[in-house]
Amino acid sequence: MNDSRIPTARLGTAGPRVGVQGLGCMGMSFAYGPADADASRATLERALELGVTLYDTADAYGAGENERFLAPFFKAHREDVVVATKFALSIPPDEPTRRIIRNDAPYIREAVEASLRRLDLDVIDLYYMHRRDVNVPIEETVGAMAELVREGKVRHLGLSEVTARELRAAHAVHPIAAVQSEWSLFSRDIEAGVVPAAAELGVALVPYSPLGRGFLTGSVTSTDGLADDDFRHQQPRFTGDNAAANAALLAPVRTVAEAHGATLGQIALAWVQQRAEVHGLPVIPIPGTRKPTRVAENTAATGIVLTDDELSLLEPIAEKVAGDRYADMTFASAGRE
Ligand SMILES: NC(=O)c1ccc[n+]([C@@H]2O[C@H](COP(=O)([O-])OP(=O)(O)OC[C@H]3O[C@@H](n4cnc5c(N)ncnc54)[C@H](OP(=O)(O)O)[C@@H]3O)[C@@H](O)[C@H]2O)c1
Repeated sequence: MNDSRIPTARLGTAGPRVGVQGLGCMGMSFAYGPADADASRATLERALELGVTLYDTADAYGAGENERFLAPFFKAHREDVVVATKFALSIPPDEPTRRIIRNDAPYIREAVEASLRRLDLDVIDLYYMHRRDVNVPIEETVGAMAELVREGKVRHLGLSEVTARELRAAHAVHPIAAVQSEWSLFSRDIEAGVVPAAAELGVALVPYSPLGRGFLTGSVTSTDGLADDDFRHQQPRFTGDNAAANAALLAPVRTVAEAHGATLGQIALAWVQQRAEVHGLPVIPIPGTRKPTRVAENTAATGIVLTDDELSLLEPIAEKVAGDRYADMTFASAGRE
């Protein structure tokens, strides 16, 4: 077969088939320092050529800027892309750096209309609750999201950083196509409860930050040289003594990479991808990049299969990682399990 496009997987039992690796678009407008808009646009086009069809954004990435940036690309390729965006991180107009988590029905309705406007679309393919407001029953939130499906504003529902219990309660109200959570060689907390629940319910897992926000590629292993507003200054794993301790954990990744003639990032992605067989569910990681060469490198990882010995070598890494994945772990499902 001559087709260089990546294989596909299904987003939940009723969702569309998508390329087995998606593209995280957050960095094109937010979080990881200045982006070159032309290079980002070239990255989107290159990804599509390679068979990437799931594109991930959120209303909170650059306060709407990321959705606006992606709109022309989505418009040009509407039939070929699956557009995923998210609500819940509301930004007070007078405090642009603050986020207030909102899961209530009136807010969801406001948020979806604003996202549709910025994306310049009639319908969002996959609409995620980005973060959980524990003061609003999950049934109420998913009930409001399900109304959007009935009204044709949204096609499929997703949840980000939910606990196994929250996922089960939500799925009882309306089928959930995908759970998006951090999952990588450095971050495996969801394997305890969320992953088995998703496998049982037929929900796909969409791992975010599968490259450990760049750490696992070996290219950014501290905050040295990062822009002042780079989010990684606030990430415990990149700062202080933790950074050097975590850099030492890359040694086995390097050993496996050398055996495959691959990069460290490709081994990190192959490991996440192989969780699909290990846990028995569709796994569609969304590595983020703004560079066409890197999207080609990252998608090529879908062709790498790690041996049992290699998986054993990589197995102990996560439990040795220094520092939590967020400074405030209530922001993550593991902080509420
Ligand atoms: N649901 C949530 O709460 C949540 C949270 C975080 C992220 N996300 C989503 O998940 C996506 C991916 O996560 P992420 O961007 O945080 O982290 P990531 O994918 O683990 O890593 C992204 C970082 O790795 C670099 N990188 C990518 N490919 C590379 C390669 N081949 N070689 C060297 N460096 C490489 C990128 O730099 P360049 O861009 O310069 O290539 C960027 O700095 C985001 O874009 C976003 O859509 C969701």
